[in-house]
Amino acid sequence: MCIKAVIFDLDGVIVSTDDFHYQAWKQMSDEEGIPFDRETNQRLRGVSRMASLEIILEKSSRSYSDTEKAELAARKNQFYKEKLANLTTCDVLPGVKNLLAGLKRQGVKIAVGSSSKNTPYILERIEMQDYFDAVADGNQISHSKPDPEVFLLAAKLLGIPPQNCAVVEDAYAGIEAAKAGGMFAVGVGFAQTCPQADLAAPDLDHVELKSIVNLKR
Ligand code: BG6
Ligand code: MG
Repeated sequence: MCIKAVIFDLDGVIVSTDDFHYQAWKQMSDEEGIPFDRETNQRLRGVSRMASLEIILEKSSRSYSDTEKAELAARKNQFYKEKLANLTTCDVLPGVKNLLAGLKRQGVKIAVGSSSKNTPYILERIEMQDYFDAVADGNQISHSKPDPEVFLLAAKLLGIPPQNCAVVEDAYAGIEAAKAGGMFAVGVGFAQTCPQADLAAPDLDHVELKSIVNLKR
């Protein structure tokens, strides 16, 4: 078997936090009078907090100093965390628990690979903090997706070579990162249309266990 580990993105793959990100950025942008819509929001998927802010500021009529940018990002994170406080085990996306349990039964290692610095808090909210063999997140990396750093770190923590890993992602930037790291890429949700994906499905409920573990070059 080629696949020895599967690395899961968090936001939009394991849990439906992606709309919370949108709402929190929208709240901050509205306060600042910066135009921000769902189309621009799609460009923020998988991208770090500060890189997301830079994309939003492209539409701003004035420039912001580094100190002001740090304040805007902190304000957005405050709004986001208020929403995360309502997160429960019910917010785990369809098919996730089933697929993870199936992989575990087959002896395939599972990890989280997320750009989010809120990963530990989110895993705690959905009571999955002890579920994965490894967690790599935005607190441990210096280059966010589409750089492969977070996935390479997850593979390293698992002790599995990148070529034996598959990544599950809902972001084009994440699929790009997986391929740049020499891994297989499974596109779900928004990324199901990504041409670089080796396998695609609307959500994990529609991904058969055997279609992941049998991925081959
Ligand atoms: C990613 C999200 O998982 O995490 C991005 O897809 C987000 O939208 C990024 O910007 C960073 O998240 P956080 O929680 O560190 O602000
Ligand atoms: Mg995501």
